[in-house]
Amino acid sequence: MQENSYCSRLEAVSRDHETIPERLAVVTGGNRGIGLEVCRHLAVQGVTVILTARNENRGKDAVESLGHGSNLSNIIFHQLDILDNDSVSSLAQHIETRYGKLDILVNNAGVGGVEVDQDGLRALNIDPNTWLSGKAANLLEHVVVQTYDGAVKCVDTNYYGCKWVTEALLPLLKQSTSGARIVNTSSLRSELKRMPNEKLRDELRNVDLWDENRMEAMLDEFLEDLKHGRLEERGWPTMLPAYSMSKMVVNLYTRILAKRHPGMRINCVHPGFVKTEINWNTGVIPPEEGARGAVKLALLPDDGPTGCYFDQTDLGVAW
Ligand SMILES: NC(=O)c1ccc[n+]([C@@H]2O[C@H](COP(=O)([O-])OP(=O)(O)OC[C@H]3O[C@@H](n4cnc5c(N)ncnc54)[C@H](OP(=O)(O)O)[C@@H]3O)[C@@H](O)[C@H]2O)c1
Repeated sequence: MQENSYCSRLEAVSRDHETIPERLAVVTGGNRGIGLEVCRHLAVQGVTVILTARNENRGKDAVESLGHGSNLSNIIFHQLDILDNDSVSSLAQHIETRYGKLDILVNNAGVGGVEVDQDGLRALNIDPNTWLSGKAANLLEHVVVQTYDGAVKCVDTNYYGCKWVTEALLPLLKQSTSGARIVNTSSLRSELKRMPNEKLRDELRNVDLWDENRMEAMLDEFLEDLKHGRLEERGWPTMLPAYSMSKMVVNLYTRILAKRHPGMRINCVHPGFVKTEINWNTGVIPPEEGARGAVKLALLPDDGPTGCYFDQTDLGVAW
């Protein structure tokens, strides 16, 4: 009896030795677009990747497509809806039981939070430079509609979802054996030069003034002003307002986390203007290229930057 339990303990130890990967990553929203390509590139680099998706079929199909197309066997599916508390806890529990640690978290899942008349948008034929400069706000007025519900969804997904997943996985990232990395997906829309309210812009530059409570109070105020049609009057961004605010807060959250966990490398990245569903395929670079920044930050060396904003693979200026 004693011998048997000793043997099974030995088996468990050696099984763990064989199966606990050197580097283990979680990618949110991994079933399509940039997230799918981040999974592919990390797996090519030898990282074991947990590709997550809120829809089980879409996620499993994505893993299968990577297995067939790229012949990668180190990609595993796990369901994750970043807005569903049970789903987030179940992922954390699974990783805890199976691996006892996590090395890389790529918070990629995101939504635009606006309603779009796609034919109308195509008819406008807006060139990429006008899109990126933010000068398209007037042109878009009739084809891109920001509803209050859409704004709430956007802020919830892009900021709160990122925060909830990070908080649930942080204890596992602290157990990383190769140095924990967190990559938060930002956007050009997060750059503070796009914030009309000068006082708030200056405050947002100073990370020491902020914590989650203050950021969340600001988001509440923003949503209240949006509900009452006071965005312009109060100096909030008017082009893709909820998306812009959510990504400004993601940047701030990244900087707060980086300060709080100096041993980890925690950064945010604008992936480029990538042709995916989030921008109704108006982007100009393919998802493979859009994934490069996140992959670089996920694989940073121990002395790499932290608390920084990257524009694709280069250090950028967002604040
Ligand atoms: N494309 C660009 O030009 C661009 C520029 C700047 C920043 N970004 C950012 O890049 C990231 C990826 O976007 P993308 O361009 O690849 O867009 P995408 O093709 O629309 O992909 C978005 C992904 O997020 C997932 N998602 C949304 N809500 C979710 C939730 N509650 N739980 C789990 N997953 C959820 C989607 O899942 P479903 O398939 O289930 O909907 C999908 O996998 C986003 O954070 C976006 O803001 C993109």
